[in-house]
Amino acid sequence: MSDLFSLKDHVALVTGGSRGLGLAMATAMAEAGGTVVLNGRDPKTLDAAAAKLKARGLKAETAPFDVSDFDAATKAVAAIARKHGRLDAAVLNAGIQHRVPLLEWKTEDFQRVIDTNLTACFVLAREAARAMIPRGAGRIIMTGSIMGIVARPTIHGYTAAKAGLAGLCKTLAVELGPKGVTCNVICPGFFETEMNTALTQNPDFTAWVKSRVPLGRWAKPPEIGGAAVFLASPAGSFVNGHMLVVDGGMVDMA
Ligand SMILES: NC(=O)c1ccc[n+]([C@@H]2O[C@H](COP(=O)([O-])OP(=O)(O)OC[C@H]3O[C@@H](n4cnc5c(N)ncnc54)[C@H](OP(=O)(O)O)[C@@H]3O)[C@@H](O)[C@H]2O)c1
Repeated sequence: MSDLFSLKDHVALVTGGSRGLGLAMATAMAEAGGTVVLNGRDPKTLDAAAAKLKARGLKAETAPFDVSDFDAATKAVAAIARKHGRLDAAVLNAGIQHRVPLLEWKTEDFQRVIDTNLTACFVLAREAARAMIPRGAGRIIMTGSIMGIVARPTIHGYTAAKAGLAGLCKTLAVELGPKGVTCNVICPGFFETEMNTALTQNPDFTAWVKSRVPLGRWAKPPEIGGAAVFLASPAGSFVNGHMLVVDGGMVDMA
């Protein structure tokens, strides 16, 4: 195969890379030849995830920090860029969910979701760009959601944050494009991860997913990996400001 999808010599930070979709994207990127720096809050989970990749001969490191600790996030990006002398991709994927009816939503919970799912992406994108601009190259990839495009009840902070990422991606794409840095958003549909345990274990919700998704099933985490490799690799060099929906066709179904 040509080098179209190769990430050889690349260094990528993947936030929320200790499990779920982040680990799936990091795994695919490491399989494409990159060095992946896995982030999450729990060092033990991170070490275990990195050890599994390294046991397969893949290149993985860890960077434990809370993305909503903006000072720690800023320092971590600088440390990765300093250590490797480059930062080719920043996959800004860490996210949390909070599901309660509107009248039970506390303002501090809304703020917590926005801080983790949106403001942290702004801070991390800014700091990644600081490392990428001098090299005239870089890929910022954010994990949005189809729940930033369509909506379901109870997830007010989440949907506001994911819709916000769509706008943030556009301003980053137009400002950083001339400097050689692209920004895109991957919008997953319904994937079987820890975030969705309450939903995957609910037979009524699973029946709803099967009826609404043209492919008729939940997605498995590895099915997100190709999108991240595409956007980070030479294959994605002219893709900028794009929302790449990976949802089995759900948002297109009438
Ligand atoms: N699963 C889906 O169907 C789906 C659909 C659309 C979009 N998404 C998005 O995809 C992303 C990943 O979701 P997932 O389903 O893989 O969730 P997950 O299984 O719950 O994994 C979340 C990851 O984020 C990390 N994380 C959470 N808060 C963090 C923080 N403050 N700082 C650093 N790391 C943090 C977690 O590690 P620690 O807890 O150890 O910190 C973990 O590695 C999220 O942005 C989510 O909104 C998921």
